[in-house]
Amino acid sequence: MEIIRDPKEMQRFALQVKREGRSIGVVPTMGFLHEGHLSLMRLIRSRCDVLVVTIFVNPTQFNQAADLDSYPRDEEGDLRKCRENGADLVFSPEVPQMYPEGFQSEVRVEEISQGLCGATRPGHMQGVSTVVTKLFNLTQPDIAAFGKKDYQQWRMIRRMVQDLDFPIEIVGGDTYREADGLAMSSRNANLDAKSRKKAVLLSQTLQSIDEEVKHGETDCGRLTEKARKTIENAGDFSIDYLEIRSREQLTPLETISEPAVVLVAAFIGGVRLIDNLELTWKVN
Ligand code: PAJ
Repeated sequence: MEIIRDPKEMQRFALQVKREGRSIGVVPTMGFLHEGHLSLMRLIRSRCDVLVVTIFVNPTQFNQAADLDSYPRDEEGDLRKCRENGADLVFSPEVPQMYPEGFQSEVRVEEISQGLCGATRPGHMQGVSTVVTKLFNLTQPDIAAFGKKDYQQWRMIRRMVQDLDFPIEIVGGDTYREADGLAMSSRNANLDAKSRKKAVLLSQTLQSIDEEVKHGETDCGRLTEKARKTIENAGDFSIDYLEIRSREQLTPLETISEPAVVLVAAFIGGVRLIDNLELTWKVN
């Protein structure tokens, strides 16, 4: 497995692979890899000749310096996991090489990046769309995998690729969970024991919303209010958002009148967790 740190070298390598007629698959990450990331590598491993994993803790998508500073890192472990899961190359650039002095361009996807994580983390979604564009240009993927765990991010990248004609197939991987249901996240490493135990309430609450939908409830206000109360009554949580939206464009819904997804973000013990669930959709 090769490791490249210089962006221009990465691009030269990728263009050479393409000239040889071989295809490239890319899994963009910020490192501290867990099974969720590894499942994305396995998802596209057989669909490309060269599998590239990018590891870059992108400062422009963090709107709080403390959040960036506390982001967990483990390069040695990450490289081992990449090797074990069939990566051919890891691209792990440094911040000054990705954003040299004078850098001033931005890629912005409009509606789909507003609200949800876009509302409470100003600049976050643009930071993601811009760095993903750079990573795409540097690694030249034919196919790239993103997790549905970051549902808004996944939909935004699909929209961007469609709107701007990137010749890339975007594949969505299902959310990989701990045994108790907590969605795997690099941030889980920052949870203390008490918060870790309580954190499972998020996925449980999403499941109970789906149960109610299965039993015929269609009023989004009622569904989200009840779920909010459950989480608030448990104590220690501070809800950032809990919303039901349409799956494709993520437009807010009053009733479940089309395929919908429920999305939640909440702080517990100083850690921001997100989760979501595509709700059961029955065509009447
Ligand atoms: P990061 O949080 O490291 O996640 C990298 C990829 O792994 C994303 O596509 C994310 O959705 C996916 N992922 C995370 N947890 C997952 C889980 N439990 N199950 C399945 N997939 C999971 O998302 C980012 O990095 C960054 O925003 C990035 C796209 C790399 C741009 O900087």
